[in-house]
Amino acid sequence: MKSLKNKTALVTGGAGFIGSHLSQGLLDMGARVIVLDDLSTGKKENMKDFLKNPKLFFIRGDANNLNTLKNIFASYKIDYVFHYAAKVGVVRTYEDPLGVLRDLEGFRPILELSKKNKIKKAIFSSSSEVYGNPLELPSKEDGALNPKIPYAAAKLVGEHYFRFYFHKLGLPATALRFFNVYGPRQESSSYGFVTGIFIRQALEGKPLTVYGNGTQTRDFVFIKDNVRAAIATLFAPKTDGEVINLGSGKPSTILNLAKKIAKVSEDPKVKIKFVPRPEHDFILYRHPHVSKMKQLLGFLPEYSLEDGLRMTYDWYKQNYGKRN
Ligand SMILES: NC(=O)c1ccc[n+]([C@@H]2O[C@H](COP(=O)([O-])OP(=O)(O)OC[C@H]3O[C@@H](n4cnc5c(N)ncnc54)[C@H](O)[C@@H]3O)[C@@H](O)[C@H]2O)c1
Repeated sequence: MKSLKNKTALVTGGAGFIGSHLSQGLLDMGARVIVLDDLSTGKKENMKDFLKNPKLFFIRGDANNLNTLKNIFASYKIDYVFHYAAKVGVVRTYEDPLGVLRDLEGFRPILELSKKNKIKKAIFSSSSEVYGNPLELPSKEDGALNPKIPYAAAKLVGEHYFRFYFHKLGLPATALRFFNVYGPRQESSSYGFVTGIFIRQALEGKPLTVYGNGTQTRDFVFIKDNVRAAIATLFAPKTDGEVINLGSGKPSTILNLAKKIAKVSEDPKVKIKFVPRPEHDFILYRHPHVSKMKQLLGFLPEYSLEDGLRMTYDWYKQNYGKRN
């Protein structure tokens, strides 16, 4: 296994679901990790397994703020930047579109400082939302985009910034277009994501509410695979200046997801209920083309949907009630 000993990584959004797992992964590889998070949706509790690690430095602050970032770059010799802080969640972006667009302000400062300080690699967490209601399936990185919501617009601008800083200014930088990531610690409130919501419903003895007839598709990647791919990107210079889909390439219908969650719950009382699709559930299909991911990263997810869901379910079961 490659080592990150004597390397320092800045993870913005590191107290969030994905960022906390990534931070743990980086620490496990020997890196020193600086987490910058405003705790807007993230939680210190997400970092409880490694908060006391002497190589972990937590800074509460705004990743879009130039002075905050300047102070961090002045205090630590940073080798890698993972820019994961963002106002997340489709429902949230409906409620506060302008708040989402504030994330546009963070790209230039973090990239300028990364370039000035000659970091080795910057990675950006983009999203399959840039495909909106996809115009082609499977969706290819250089194919047609159809962003529909401010969150998607912010992600698209971020991708362009990261590409531009490599192609024009020589900063090694990559944007990863995450499809649906799921796993322990993911938000399961009504602002959350389908997997967490279904699991919470199962644990509360409520039916799993499938929108419409459940034939919508999404592409699910277990958090451990997502982290492995992001870290692999550090060691893959071919990814510099690229935008890469990060998915399984094997989408699942939402009904199939609900059935699998009912199965892993091993609770025969868990039922599925079909409900009308709310306004924000207008994306029918997602299906990433994953050949670029395989070629440039040599990456393939290891966890099957069922195995990942079982681990996620078990985690929620143990932690249920202690958080939302
Ligand atoms: N979860 C997914 O399926 C998915 C899919 C595509 C893209 N992404 C992207 O991955 C990243 C992580 O998402 P997540 O699912 O872990 O969500 P999350 O809400 O758990 O993590 C986001 C973190 O960023 C922090 N944050 C938000 N704005 C900030 C700011 N201005 N300054 C400092 N910290 C700030 C939040 O407190 C939170 O800890 C995000 O950029 C998200 O857009 C996630």
